Amino acid sequence: MTSFPKIRMRRNRTDEWSRRLVRENQLTTDDLIWPVFVCEGSQQRDPIASMPGVERLSIDLVVEAVGEAKALGIPAVALFPATPPEKKTPDGEEALNPENLVCRVVRAVKEKHPGIGIICDVALDPYTTTGQDGLVRHGYVANDETIDMLCEQSVVQARAGCDVIAPSDMMDGRVGAIRDALDRAGFAHVKILSYAAKYASAFYGPFRDAVGSKSALGGGDKRTYQMDPANGLEAEREVALDVAEGADMLMVKPGMPYLDILYRVKQRFGLPTFVYQVSGEYAMLRGAADRGWLDWERALLESLLAFKRAGADGILTYGAVDAARLLRRG
Ligand code: PBG
Repeated sequence: MTSFPKIRMRRNRTDEWSRRLVRENQLTTDDLIWPVFVCEGSQQRDPIASMPGVERLSIDLVVEAVGEAKALGIPAVALFPATPPEKKTPDGEEALNPENLVCRVVRAVKEKHPGIGIICDVALDPYTTTGQDGLVRHGYVANDETIDMLCEQSVVQARAGCDVIAPSDMMDGRVGAIRDALDRAGFAHVKILSYAAKYASAFYGPFRDAVGSKSALGGGDKRTYQMDPANGLEAEREVALDVAEGADMLMVKPGMPYLDILYRVKQRFGLPTFVYQVSGEYAMLRGAADRGWLDWERALLESLLAFKRAGADGILTYGAVDAARLLRRG
């Protein structure tokens, strides 16, 4: 068997050109999806304390920001509404209002920037006073009754111009039901990006600050529908069901603590597979960088490249614009 000193693994690493030549994975701007938080008002820009550098933007500023993202070559954005508390109700009916914040921002972005993909979450948590993703009945998030609302919410968002419906609620059977509802309403071309393996994670904390669902949720959690972080085979079952129900694309979430799940999902199913580098992951990297403990640019690109190596076709990241600028600079 040939081995050292004939074999020297460092030989291929000696120069930048040879490192480039043998590189197995590449991150490009085509891999990036930028999640953006939307608030009411105009010329409104609210910082989010637990996500330094990320702001909630009013619709006019979202339209501008999406223009910049598009100019940088980012293929798609995911829009998240920070619903004013007075619009929230126990059952989250505002989700079905065609004039709600997310529908208005989708229409505004679509009108100004056709050609960039628009992704919208489907789940009730931006709209419920409980902060839960579904309808609470006798202390439990009721699956089937919630699905009826998610179907309507999907159609309302598709009608506003949303290109990709991303159910993030983790109810059983919602992907198939939403597919039927979209097809019946004439939206056969609208894609479904299923948050297929979504874990009950502490890393969503800053997101819940950003959309105001943390205070609504109070001490509650989402463990009766989001997955147990201990489980891997269960993720494969979740994905298999969503594939059978018609998901066009899959997502694993969070990202870095679940790289093994991402790898397994891509290997086994081979569908377009996305990963969400969630708010808590962003906060960790950015918080450390702001203290001078990490190099933000290098740590960001390395974290995103790790997702590519694990098999991701695309990455939702709050660092999308920074990453796109860095990639352009080369
Ligand atoms: C809502 C939703 C959440 C995230 C995306 N969609 C939070 C949650 O499930 O409580 C989290 C994203 C992030 O942390 O960046 N269903």
